Amino acid sequence: MELWKTTFFTVMLLLAVGTGEGQLVENFYSFTCPSVEAIVRQVVTNKISQTFITIPATLRLFFHDCFVEGCDASVMIASPNGDAEKDAPDSLSLAGDGFDTVIKARQAVDAVCPNVVSCADILAIAARDVVVLSGGPNFNVELGRRDGLISQASRVAGNLPEPTFDLNLLNSIFNKNNLSMIDMIALSGAHTVGFSHCSKFSARLYSFNSPSRIDPSLDSSYAQQLIRDCPPNVDPTIAINMDPSTPNAFDNAYYQNLLQGKGLFTSDEVLFTDQISQPTVSDFASSSGDFFAAFATAMVKLGRTGVKTGTDGEIRRDCAAFNS
Ligand code: HEM
Ligand SMILES: *[C@@H]1O[C@H](CO)[C@@H](O)[C@H](O)[C@H]1NC(C)=O
Repeated sequence: MELWKTTFFTVMLLLAVGTGEGQLVENFYSFTCPSVEAIVRQVVTNKISQTFITIPATLRLFFHDCFVEGCDASVMIASPNGDAEKDAPDSLSLAGDGFDTVIKARQAVDAVCPNVVSCADILAIAARDVVVLSGGPNFNVELGRRDGLISQASRVAGNLPEPTFDLNLLNSIFNKNNLSMIDMIALSGAHTVGFSHCSKFSARLYSFNSPSRIDPSLDSSYAQQLIRDCPPNVDPTIAINMDPSTPNAFDNAYYQNLLQGKGLFTSDEVLFTDQISQPTVSDFASSSGDFFAAFATAMVKLGRTGVKTGTDGEIRRDCAAFNS
């Protein structure tokens, strides 16, 4: 039995390597680092017990990594010149605890299987783990990504969605990454956890247009609450919960909020106000099962974005630095 299994997996592995295709597989490390997922899960669990921000920070880090240069840990690189991907304006609000989670998990993995697991794969596993550990869906993570060799601040602009985007702009940036409108709506549900700085949505409170200072698609009591939390000259470091109802749970409350005019960004609320995306939002609001299934599917697809496999890229020794 064991021999049969070993032979089977060896053949599969040779097929995967031999074809040289950019294909990820779930059991990529079954011989070289069989406990990688258990080790990452343990580190993520410990880190969450220290700080909740681990959850949104890691999930958002994965998204930003995948949309810029593909899921290749390019976002992890630190440059002494301040010109790496993470230094771009769109990346500056990435919370440090996401980076720290990946670095810590990689150290723990390296203690058992040195230098075989990519930082990109560790980030993909950790992103799944934070979803599961906050009550979201479980799913298998495809592996075999290699770490990228390019990380430039100048290559970020235009590759990430902005909170002011309408449905067309959202769809075009997700479609460019092989993600459908349903994937986009499901992935936006990540805003069921985590925080936003006031500057990202204050135009909806103070300068929407004239005569209406406040965006009329905002529920009026929610708008008043946001004005209290984010006064005009608010400290720029202040961040508020993006899901006002259940901020610490990965659930479908995000969609229920949209039905009530409680989407924090224009890019959130438009998913309900636009007739094209509205039926999916209504479905996810009433069925957490439908949301969870769509989210899991979309995360696996997101994890395939622009991946390097085989001999492309490298296995970075230090997730924050290229090998040479
Ligand atoms: C659909 C288009 C999206 C837009 C316009 C968008 C925009 C934003 C913005 C402006 C913030 C606040 C950042 C800050 O002020 O610190 C944020 C936070 C966040 N986003 Fe998105 N996002 C989008 C999609 C996604 C996706 C696909 C994911 C993951 C699957 C995601 C996960 C998160 C998380 C978890 C946070 C909270 C981060 C934290 O608390 O540190 N977002 N997003
Ligand atoms: C989208 O899919 C096509 C066809 O499989 C592939 O060639 C392309 O690299 C993918 N794009 C991204 C950003 O992953």
